[in-house]
Amino acid sequence: MEGNNIFEEYREKMKNIILFLISLVLMTFIISSCSKNPYEGREDAIKEGAALYKQHCEKCHGLQGSCGVCPNLTDGDWKYGGSDRDFFKSISNGRPGGMPAWKGIINKDGIWKIITYLRTLEK
Ligand code: HEC
Repeated sequence: MEGNNIFEEYREKMKNIILFLISLVLMTFIISSCSKNPYEGREDAIKEGAALYKQHCEKCHGLQGSCGVCPNLTDGDWKYGGSDRDFFKSISNGRPGGMPAWKGIINKDGIWKIITYLRTLEK
């Protein structure tokens, strides 16, 4: 009887540990897939991104993604970081030095497509 109880307790503990590990793996997967560009390298996305860039960004960031007053988006030198996630934040929420927030104007997919296009400008 005693022995059985200890076994049951052990099994219960193991079950909790395994459930915890599974949710940890799932959470890591979800978080990393949220901050990764789903359109990376796709030709159709580059085209759409280029059109959106022309429409919304070019007047400030210049024809080749660079101009005098706004930061150069082609030199790989990023004030706010150069990861997909950093780009997404810069574009979606804006930045204090004069970068407007595009959340609500350009949808999530559109922002990712612009990022896909921006990657092709990087030297
Ligand atoms: C009104 C002018 C203006 C428009 C339009 C504009 N930007 Fe910006 N952008 C800026 C300025 C100014 C900064 C610098 C902000 C700072 O330093 O805090 C900036 C910063 C950025 C950064 C961060 C650069 C870094 O070094 O980390 C990215 C990325 C960016 N813009 C992308 C875009 C994209 C994509 C669009 C179009 C959807 C866009 N911008 C439209 C003015 C603009």
